[in-house]
Amino acid sequence: MTQEMKITAIAPSNIAFIKYWGKQDEELKIPLNDSISMNLSNLTTTTTVHFSASYPKDGMTINGKEGGEEGKRALKHVDFIRKTFQKKIPVKIVSQNSFPAGTGLSSSASGFAALTKAVVAALGLQLSEKAVSILARIGSGSAARSIPDGFVRWFAGSGTSDRSYAVSLHPPSFWDLADTVVIVSKRKKEVGSTGGQKLARTSIFMQPRLDSIGDKINRAIGFLEKKDFTRFGELVEKEALEMHAVMLTSNPPLVYLEPETVSLMKEVYAWRKSGLEVYYTLNTGQDIHLLSMKKDVPSLISRLENLDYVQRVITNYPGKGTRITGNHLF
Ligand code: PMV
Repeated sequence: MTQEMKITAIAPSNIAFIKYWGKQDEELKIPLNDSISMNLSNLTTTTTVHFSASYPKDGMTINGKEGGEEGKRALKHVDFIRKTFQKKIPVKIVSQNSFPAGTGLSSSASGFAALTKAVVAALGLQLSEKAVSILARIGSGSAARSIPDGFVRWFAGSGTSDRSYAVSLHPPSFWDLADTVVIVSKRKKEVGSTGGQKLARTSIFMQPRLDSIGDKINRAIGFLEKKDFTRFGELVEKEALEMHAVMLTSNPPLVYLEPETVSLMKEVYAWRKSGLEVYYTLNTGQDIHLLSMKKDVPSLISRLENLDYVQRVITNYPGKGTRITGNHLF
């Protein structure tokens, strides 16, 4: 066994076009429905893992901070992988995000994808992409989608863990799409996605959502294949609102939108009327993802520069999945 190997993995965050909200199995993070996403080229986590008998105990540093709740959750996942493959050896892990955590930018997706890939390789395990996607999912659901390349579909699977994994639909070069992430607030969300998802079934809109989502997945895949940006964008925008309708009508209600988010949503409608084809999508945070064709990014950026509540803008293109790199963090 290659116990002393130091391995570094780099993983993208991803944006879901058709969302994952609600689980069949909380512990194993098997979702209620399939989802469709794109990896984000400029929102990444880099993680270095080193298993060695010379360490007195496990250690985990995330964004320069040792331990903490995030560190505990990460080490619990490492422990799960160690137990699954009957390994017993202490580990040192250092992880660094290229973006702020806890603001809806899905740091858990890139975080758990990079961690899983690096741990698997550092333990000398030879696993398929599907097996790594399954393991990453057990760390944090949407991490399953950050493993394969480009445009991705996550199959919910029916009840058993080995049927719930993500595959690449198209490589990053398939489509000149851009996702410009706009950070409008640094406030951290009060209820994380793990807690929020538990409430999904309390919304009267959840069942109608589940009844129609299969059809929506098929339409999204069709528009993607045809590169029909107008119909794709309209569908994606409606999907985000539908997920937020579930959130808003949960018990207790989950209001993730900030005033600035709503202002920007209205700007998007006005920009579209004026001829700039841009659509939004939203997750659980105070940030908004603006989808456009790559050629329209400069015009979009110049409009964003005029809004005083915009704090930071990160433009992404379709990104690669999780991969190993030689640039270690320690
Ligand atoms: O994997 P989690 O627990 O971070 O859940 C992510 C949920 C959403 O971002 C709201 C939707 C999605 O599919 O990414």
